[in-house]
Order: sequence, then C-alpha cells, then structure tokens
Amino acid sequence: MSAQIIYGKPVAELITAETAHEVERLKKAGCQPHLSVILVGDNPASHTYVGRKQKACNEIGIESETILLPTDTPEAEVLTILNRLNRSNKVHGILVQLPLPDHISSDRIIEAIDPQKDVDGFHPVNRGKLLTGESGFVPCTPAGIQTLLVRSGINPEGKHVVIIGRSMIVGLPLAVILMQKKPGANATVTLCHTRTTDLKKHTLTADILVVAAGRPNTIHADMVPRGCTVIDVGTNRVDDPQAKKGYRLTGDVDFESVQEVAGAITPVPGGVGPMTIAMLLHNTVKAAQSLLE
Ligand code: GUN
Repeated sequence: MSAQIIYGKPVAELITAETAHEVERLKKAGCQPHLSVILVGDNPASHTYVGRKQKACNEIGIESETILLPTDTPEAEVLTILNRLNRSNKVHGILVQLPLPDHISSDRIIEAIDPQKDVDGFHPVNRGKLLTGESGFVPCTPAGIQTLLVRSGINPEGKHVVIIGRSMIVGLPLAVILMQKKPGANATVTLCHTRTTDLKKHTLTADILVVAAGRPNTIHADMVPRGCTVIDVGTNRVDDPQAKKGYRLTGDVDFESVQEVAGAITPVPGGVGPMTIAMLLHNTVKAAQSLLE
C-alpha cells in the first residue's frame, strides 16, 4: 500500500489566510507590517528563496524590501545596514538570507539583529527562549514542520521522533520544539547527525522520521519502519538536462521506494517548503504586533 502524501501547500494557505486577516487588522490600526531582507552574493537558490518570500509578503499586504549586496561586500557594511534597520520604526522584521559569503561571520551578523525583529528566530536571545520555553521567535522551517504534522492529524505527542541533521536552521531547533512540555510536542526525540554510527538502527525505531541531512538519497525503504511518517526537508538541486531549468529539485529521501513502506510522506517540492514561508509571514506579523504594543 502506498503512503498518504502530506502536501504543504493547502496547510500553508490556511495559515497564510489567518495571517492575512491579522495584516488587515494591523493596517486598520495604522500599522503597515514591513519585512526587510538582506541577500549577499549570487547564490541562485538563495535568490529563488528570497524571491518567493517577497512574493508571499506582497500577496497578503506585508510590505517587503530586498537589499541586494554584491558578494565582496565587507562585513562592516552589512552591520551598518542592520543597525539602520534595527533603528527604523518602519521595519518590523529583518531576515539575512543564509549562507553568507565566507568572509562574513554569520554569527556576528545574526547577533547584530534586534531580537525583537529577528523573524528567523536565529538570534541567541530567541534560541535561548526556545530552550527555556519562553515566547520568542521560533525558526520558520521547524515551526512549519510541527504545524504541518499537527494539522495533518499526526500529533507528535508521545511519539518517537528521529531527526537526521543537527543544523541551527532545522534539526537542532526542531528537536527542542518537539520535546517541549506543550501541546503538539511532548515527543521523545533522537537527534542523529554525520557522526552517528549505524543510522539505520535509529531510523528503524521512528514513529516520525524527519530528514534534514542536506544530501539526496540519505534514506531508502530498508531504513524506514512500516507505517512511519516521513518528513523530507531536503531541497537539493540535481542536474537534469531534460528539465527546463537544467536541474530538478529532489529531497533527502528516496521517495519512490520509501512511499511503499511509509504511512505518510511529504513530497519535494510541495511538502515542507511552503510551510517555511507561511511561518515567516506569521513571524513578521507577530513582530509588527509586538512592536505596536
Ligand atoms: N537559508 C536556508 N534556510 C534559511 C532560513 O530559513 N532563513 C535564512 N535566513 N536563511 C536560510
């Protein structure tokens, strides 16, 4: 039997409709929500992601600007721009697209963002709040994964969630989110990474398997227990001369074989991706609301 396919788009549309409502309310109260995005360099995937974020903002009436900077922009110049955005009353959310060029320290850049405008939830203050369970900004992709699971009727409470990947953007915050003593969480979490020995031993014990390894074909059918929910966070570009753009997008999971054993599985594209953007819009409106108070 084939798995249920968990599509992110309809769930993302529901969340975004709720956010759009809030945008209208804020505008009536005289507040125009605004997101500023900084993009340094010419990474094609980053340009695609930032374009999608801007389009999604505009569709629901969030004002957004993208500050495009050349690859050789000095770190000090990015810090100066951040300083200006931090002080601007017009700007509610600030996002610096990652990765940054090698000569720029992403830690120093993230630490320079006002935590109240840090809609990515990457600032140490927001990461700390996540650890202690205080309210702050939660990173968009892991927040989107939790919401997608819950709204698809797959509540993580009491489940064994195995996560592959310990990145600051996905794996690590997701582990923290899902082990919190809160509704929609309360999971038992195993976090696997590049130094994990015998990955298959762990994946075979999962009720929910989240794959954020950043490598195609990390997971095959023989690594997935029957009935398991599989969330594929991978967005890998692989060359494909037959595709219009010369490449196609593939996840970290071998979808064809895994869908035969999984109970439910997210596709790539069309799974987690739309949720990330929906959560960014949600966080931007949350920033505008709290700065209005
Ligand atoms: N690069 C890949 N994912 C993300 C994200 O969620 N936020 C930012 N700022 N950069 C990214």
